Amino acid sequence: MAVAEGLEVARFLREQPKKLFIGGEWVESASGKTFDTIDPSTGEVLARVAEGGAEDIDRAVAAARKAHESGIWRDLPPAERAKALWRAGDLIEERANEFAQLESLDNGMPINDALVFKVPLAAATFRYYAGWVTKLDGGTQSLSLPGKFLSYTLRQPVGVVGQIIPWNEPLLMASWKVAPALACGNTVVLKPSEETPLTALLLAEILQEAEIPAGVINVVPGFGETAGARLAAHPHVDKIAFTGSTEVGKLIAKTAAETNLKRVSLELGGKSPNIVFADADLARAVSGAFMGIFLNSGQICSAGSRLYVQEKVYEQTVDELTRSIENLQLGPGIDSMTQMGPLVSQTQMDRVLGYISIGNKEGARLVTGGKRASGHGAGFFVEPTVFADVEGKMRIAREEIFGPVLAAIPFSDEEDLIAKANDTMYGLAAGVWTSDVKRAHRVAHALQAGTVYVNCYHMFDPAAPWGGFKQSGWGRELGPYALDLYTEIKNVIVDIA
Ligand code: NAI
Ligand code: MG
Repeated sequence: MAVAEGLEVARFLREQPKKLFIGGEWVESASGKTFDTIDPSTGEVLARVAEGGAEDIDRAVAAARKAHESGIWRDLPPAERAKALWRAGDLIEERANEFAQLESLDNGMPINDALVFKVPLAAATFRYYAGWVTKLDGGTQSLSLPGKFLSYTLRQPVGVVGQIIPWNEPLLMASWKVAPALACGNTVVLKPSEETPLTALLLAEILQEAEIPAGVINVVPGFGETAGARLAAHPHVDKIAFTGSTEVGKLIAKTAAETNLKRVSLELGGKSPNIVFADADLARAVSGAFMGIFLNSGQICSAGSRLYVQEKVYEQTVDELTRSIENLQLGPGIDSMTQMGPLVSQTQMDRVLGYISIGNKEGARLVTGGKRASGHGAGFFVEPTVFADVEGKMRIAREEIFGPVLAAIPFSDEEDLIAKANDTMYGLAAGVWTSDVKRAHRVAHALQAGTVYVNCYHMFDPAAPWGGFKQSGWGRELGPYALDLYTEIKNVIVDIA
């Protein structure tokens, strides 16, 4: 708390109830239990939050169901729903400092990233979907049946939507989930990650201020195995949207199948290739490789964690990248000089250090980093780390590390590259650096990934669809594609003969 004195977030930390937001009220958990959320740059307790369990999820689902059945939201004139979502975007922007500080303290991300990039993107997502509310149109069909029929389609809300989000981009993931769900007229139970529950609570506050009716949005912080599992299994939840590990994504799909066959969308892990051809603008490619892996300390599902470099420029690229790391400023996210913050938790730090030791044992060449960063007290800092001469079969080339650890791999030509880049169970994102326009498109077509960046990386926009091939998930969030996740298509056929 001391760290927050004088900051805009001090009010939230001191006065906000940090309980469960159910049916428009802040309530205690049924068990009375709480859990601590940690500031990962110090290892100290940042706030104590009510811990939702199965019973609380049941209450929240009941509130969402009731709000849904009442029609208080889905039957509102679309322009009114749009206005509330637009207002939510405005309020996020008005309180950008508070959101950014809170995100930075709870997750560890650099305050500048939060302020310049993530919080505005969250606001933009609400505004983007506000625009869709008045455009959720169906179509008409020209039937060839004998007789005369009028056939048309309606887009109707799926119903009660459960949303489970991770800790790496708490506010952004909440907005990517909540905004389209509400735009389509659903009601929501959101379970933020136990590591980073705070910005979701602030979001609940502002959604209430935006006059989204009670019960339409419910937020229940809690643990995955209890609150999350109950939400996934709940018979009155019509759809579940999940972002997190592939392992838990599979569990969610299985649970949905075994219960009420609720609709499932999954945004899961990645091991994304970032590819540098010898004909690329090397200075830009190096900074793209750098940002691709070190943004948010590598804790991004689309992190460019496999760097493929064409043999001719391989050594030079690895050298220049290594040199650029020397000046990278590590520190607490809340310090505006910080360029890379800590990892989110002790567990995540241990997992990442574990992978570094695996990389060493597997015989990859450690070029830089490789240790817990010293001089940061009890904070969970790991040095930006580069392994070179990594081979495709090594675990550090195959498994999602979710930390600041890059695997650099040489390749000979385009054919060799495509085979290597696609040799993964994942398919979320990819980057291609080249000045040959034909090659850029050829490679973009051949890569198995939901997003391919050409001569750029980590570009996010509410209009650009997001999701993965293969085990990176099911469905596409953002853009008009998310509307398919949150609506059912109904066909009405009327005999008019
Ligand atoms: P996780 O997948 O366990 O956590 C994500 C969310 O799922 C959290 O809200 C958690 O409470 C919930 N959850 C956990 N178990 C659940 C269950 N049985 N039923 C329902 N919900 C459940 O991720 P974790 O353990 O925090 O991180 C482990 C690894 O997962 C990371 O190292 C990273 O590789 C990957 N990960 C990937 C993310 C992505 O955006 N693709 C985000 C977070 C983690
Ligand atoms: Mg935390």
